[in-house]
Amino acid sequence: MTNKKIIMTSRPTGLPKESNFSLQEDSQASLNQGQIRLKTLWLSLDPYMRGRMSAAKSYTAGMNEGNVMTGEIIGKVTESESKKFPEGSIVLTRSGWQSEPVVGENEVSLVDPRIDPLSLALGTIGMPGLTAYFSLTRIGKPKKGETIVVSAGSGAVGATVGQIGKHLGCKVVGIAGSDEKVKYMVDDLNFDAGVNYKKETFKEDLKSSTAEGCDIYFDNVGGPVTDAVLDRLNTFSRVIVCGQISQYNNLKNEDGPRNFHKFLRNQAKLEGFIVYRWAEEYQEGIDFLLKLKESGFLKYRETVVEGIENAPEAFLKLFSGENFGKLLIKVAE
Ligand SMILES: NC(=O)c1ccc[n+]([C@@H]2O[C@H](COP(=O)([O-])OP(=O)(O)OC[C@H]3O[C@@H](n4cnc5c(N)ncnc54)[C@H](OP(=O)(O)O)[C@@H]3O)[C@@H](O)[C@H]2O)c1
Repeated sequence: MTNKKIIMTSRPTGLPKESNFSLQEDSQASLNQGQIRLKTLWLSLDPYMRGRMSAAKSYTAGMNEGNVMTGEIIGKVTESESKKFPEGSIVLTRSGWQSEPVVGENEVSLVDPRIDPLSLALGTIGMPGLTAYFSLTRIGKPKKGETIVVSAGSGAVGATVGQIGKHLGCKVVGIAGSDEKVKYMVDDLNFDAGVNYKKETFKEDLKSSTAEGCDIYFDNVGGPVTDAVLDRLNTFSRVIVCGQISQYNNLKNEDGPRNFHKFLRNQAKLEGFIVYRWAEEYQEGIDFLLKLKESGFLKYRETVVEGIENAPEAFLKLFSGENFGKLLIKVAE
């Protein structure tokens, strides 16, 4: 009976490498009052983890060398010294990249039993889906007939943003890094158009797909993709800064905002956010997303890699675009 865990052994310089991680095993300690032991079923791999590996100042403290990699899991209680979470309970917690973690009862919450399959509690009906729902509706405030452009549009957050946009009666244009992802956004997710940013014709394709301009830009990536979308902004448009994945492995910070005249000229608004802003309201988002899924409107896709020992290699897929939809590690049945 051992707990496998993935440690950050060194901070990455630029793109992380597998040598920044190591697998360690612990023999299992006995539980104290109020503690539970979990068998991790699913581990979520997310772009924000790159930020936690860095020593740079952020909205929350980063990791130190020697720490277990941070992350959210779904686990089954296998041993319990807690009245709140008896053996067999299915819970969500931030115990990180570990196979049999021991956690305190105040660090876990029960997974909503309506969420099926369970992995959705880490994806479309979990943190990424809630990110899409709250930031699009609270910051973007989409109106029927408006045009939403979403980058990383086939990903966990982007696919949900686009589908909520369609549900609210907007035109949705998705941006992604392959023709296969573009086809998926249009054919399966029902977006009005998709554009491949890796093509030489990207700017022209974006222009022809947004003939009436862009009212809401949901930015997941930053960099040259975002520069191109800013040229399509309409008067009183809103730019929601959700993520900047194209910049996460940069060795130095980019020079400060260069293209703010585009905001001035269009009287546009730009707002960044961290999803935890709406933590007290998550149930509203879960109910909304469940209803949309049950009606058959909300589609999702997952990339599943088996085995916690493969988490470091899988994590890198987020930066090469090899994941297609929510990236997950299946740790146990
Ligand atoms: N603010 C918040 O609270 C919050 C919460 C959750 C997530 N986020 C952010 O939201 C974004 C999406 O997260 P997710 O979990 O849904 O990930 P995801 O979209 O499922 O996966 C990341 C995708 O980013 C794209 N990408 C990678 N490098 C890129 C580059 N250099 N230029 C353009 N695109 C690139 C790739 O897709 P392609 O194949 O299309 O290139 C990749 O598949 C991330 O930036 C994340 O940090 C923010």
